[in-house]
Amino acid sequence: MKQQIPIWETQNEEKGLAVHGLFSRIAKNYDLANRILSFNRDKKWRELAVSKLNLKPGDRALDICCGTGDFFIPLRKAIDTDGELVGLDFCQPMLDQASAKDETSKLVLGDACNLPFEDGYFHGVTVGWGMRNVPDIQRAHNEAFRVLGPEGMFVSIDCAEPKSQIVRSFTGIGRTALTGILGRSLKSKDDYRYLNESSKRFKTRQELVQIMQAAGFTDVNYQDLMFGNICIHWGTKP
Ligand SMILES: C[S@@+](CC[C@H](N)C(=O)[O-])C[C@H]1O[C@@H](n2cnc3c(N)ncnc32)[C@H](O)[C@@H]1O
Repeated sequence: MKQQIPIWETQNEEKGLAVHGLFSRIAKNYDLANRILSFNRDKKWRELAVSKLNLKPGDRALDICCGTGDFFIPLRKAIDTDGELVGLDFCQPMLDQASAKDETSKLVLGDACNLPFEDGYFHGVTVGWGMRNVPDIQRAHNEAFRVLGPEGMFVSIDCAEPKSQIVRSFTGIGRTALTGILGRSLKSKDDYRYLNESSKRFKTRQELVQIMQAAGFTDVNYQDLMFGNICIHWGTKP
């Protein structure tokens, strides 16, 4: 059935359903699209994000909105074979892609806004390009905070709007063109347009800092990448 309003304008429960449908449709091509849209930089960005967590061998790590599991490689490197690695996503077709990549991690079908884990269990929590998609961003951060133990660290990487107007205009044209070409080539025009539109509508750097602080995180910090088109936020549970 045709969507009544564009996916990027949906809210709450309707957003959850629309986003779930979208990732189910694009799961098989997700990795290819990621490599193209990031100019093959996304793996390096995940490595940098994981380095913010100060994880040690034997630690327990959770990747929320894990999708096809590309955070598992740097996370496994940080916690080593003794560590426990869990990936959570609400979309089975994305998890199916993840299970083909890593047999040592545990995959959980679940909701980022209602994590099925006990309080304080993890030493580190990651989320990559996930918070933009959840229906209740504050609740998802509260949940990440809840499942971390004392001194546990959280990191989130996502798209951002460049601060400079010139860079913003230039990269905006590039992003629209690239997602348009991908959408047409992969016969999923609105799905790839969502990736661009949801980035434009996402929280600002400072709003994300406030959301993290409201969840309880301290020492909240952020770092821009790719001329401000990507931003990593991280913080600590005191
Ligand atoms: C853009 S992909 C990111 C995948 C992966 N983290 C990465 O680094 O490439 C967003 C993922 O978030 C998942 N997702 C969106 N809303 C969710 C929710 N409420 N609970 C769990 N997963 C969710 C989607 O199914 C999708 O796999």
